Amino acid sequence: MQAKSPIGVFDSGYGGLTVLKEIVHTLPQYDYIYLGDNARAPYGPRSFETVYHYTLECVQWFFRQGCELVVLACNTASAKALRTIQQKDLAKIDPDKRVLGVIRPTTEIIGQYSRTGEVGILGTSGTVISESYPIEIAKFFPQIKVYQEACPMWVPLVENNEYDKPGADYFISQHLDALMARSEKIDTVLLACTHYPLLIGKIRQRLPQQISIVSQGEIVAASLAGYLQRHPQMKAKLSRNQTLKFCTTDDASDFDAHASIFFGAAVQSQHIELEDQG
Ligand code: DGL
Repeated sequence: MQAKSPIGVFDSGYGGLTVLKEIVHTLPQYDYIYLGDNARAPYGPRSFETVYHYTLECVQWFFRQGCELVVLACNTASAKALRTIQQKDLAKIDPDKRVLGVIRPTTEIIGQYSRTGEVGILGTSGTVISESYPIEIAKFFPQIKVYQEACPMWVPLVENNEYDKPGADYFISQHLDALMARSEKIDTVLLACTHYPLLIGKIRQRLPQQISIVSQGEIVAASLAGYLQRHPQMKAKLSRNQTLKFCTTDDASDFDAHASIFFGAAVQSQHIELEDQG
């Protein structure tokens, strides 16, 4: 059987491109399809039901493109939709296909970054309300204290290309100050939203040097490489022509104008309709 499946990488918008960039760097041999659901971003403030339905629609779209493996490079979708898709929907759609998220790989190792045993989590309201991080971190590092802060304005700042403008400073300080006021012992801050690496310059300026700021791209890429090592059957299904296809549910030229900042290289996307059967 000839391998013909690209790896699907999904986000509500541009943020997942920060993860795709690292995945392609770590595993350059495979083919990738990226989908940003920009027309319906942000997902962060939306209900569990809505995020689940949007994410499932996108996952089904990937499956129609021939993907056997889809990575939800979005914390909000991973927090609110992944478990139901893995435990309920995949069995009905195709039990051999796999959907992976970004929370598990991160929580497996985040405790290793902290010496004080106190970790701050910055995420969307949806991710924070889901309590996914405290619950999952407690499984791997029961001794770690977790403090969460929802930053509802940060994704809109990034999606609207305002992330490096002076107007962003107020919202960045507001949430960093609130997080750091909870405990002086926090020594590790996790950017638990794939959009936030774009804000890392401003975040770094506002945090003491001894505090580690952790982005997820490299963590997720290393975890995917490990997953493929452990699952040779899935690995064998993946095509290896080193192609990249970018898709968006919104305007393609808009996507291309913004996407390169996240991906670190020029991007040429195409607009897709989720209900298309093609
Ligand atoms: N990149 C998504 C995440 O990691 C952003 C969510 C949103 O669309 O609000 O959570």
